[in-house]
Amino acid sequence: MKTSLGVNIDHVATLRQARRGTSPDPVAAAAIAELAGARQITIHLREDRRHIQERDLRLIRQTVQTELNLEMAANAEIVQIAFDVRPDTSTLVPERREELTTEGGLDVVGQQDALKKVVRELTEAEIRVSLFIAPDIDQIRASHRIGAPRIELHTGRYADAETKSEREAELNRIVDAAKLARKLGMSVAAGHGLDYVNVQAVARIDEIDELNIGHSIVSRAVFVGLDRAIRDMRDLIERA
Ligand code: PXP
Repeated sequence: MKTSLGVNIDHVATLRQARRGTSPDPVAAAAIAELAGARQITIHLREDRRHIQERDLRLIRQTVQTELNLEMAANAEIVQIAFDVRPDTSTLVPERREELTTEGGLDVVGQQDALKKVVRELTEAEIRVSLFIAPDIDQIRASHRIGAPRIELHTGRYADAETKSEREAELNRIVDAAKLARKLGMSVAAGHGLDYVNVQAVARIDEIDELNIGHSIVSRAVFVGLDRAIRDMRDLIERA
């Protein structure tokens, strides 16, 4: 399966929020990302609004030419915003105020009833739902049980692995998880912590159709520009 690249531009907004000013503007970043070959723009409107603002979401919804993937907590305020703004995909993620970034996946097993309701409501509004989960058999089965059409596998443990054997073990977990999800009829994305060194092994997994990558691309963009940083990542994925 061909793997498409979703570019997460949250950290363009992180840089702007460092001065609470107007630049760099994630709306411009979204346009450049699409010109460089991103197939999807991914943004996370956090409850604490630490990077992406509602203004960004609304403007990017109007300007995006590909697809908009909104990462969001399954809380009432943000779900209402999603109903209003209508992203192509809502990726439900866990959120804790004190975290540096999204740590771990959703506990679908432990929150089945609440998540099932949100999955149903978003689906009824014709917004595709994806659940961001660890590559864990129980979480995959639970995602399927509550009617999610799609999952995004959390690749953070693979990315953070310190030894070769640990990395291989984490990669195998991702492969097994992706195969099971596909067997159950769900489509599969992956992301978190992917960079120019570790991306290819994940891009080779046939069952995964999309990678969402943010921090490594925006970091490289500081030195080589956003267009080049995205094209470099796309080349690695395409050649994997
Ligand atoms: N996918 C999801 C669901 C995420 O929450 C994030 C981080 O916001 C990413 C992908 C991108 O992770 P990174 O910035 O580490 O590439």
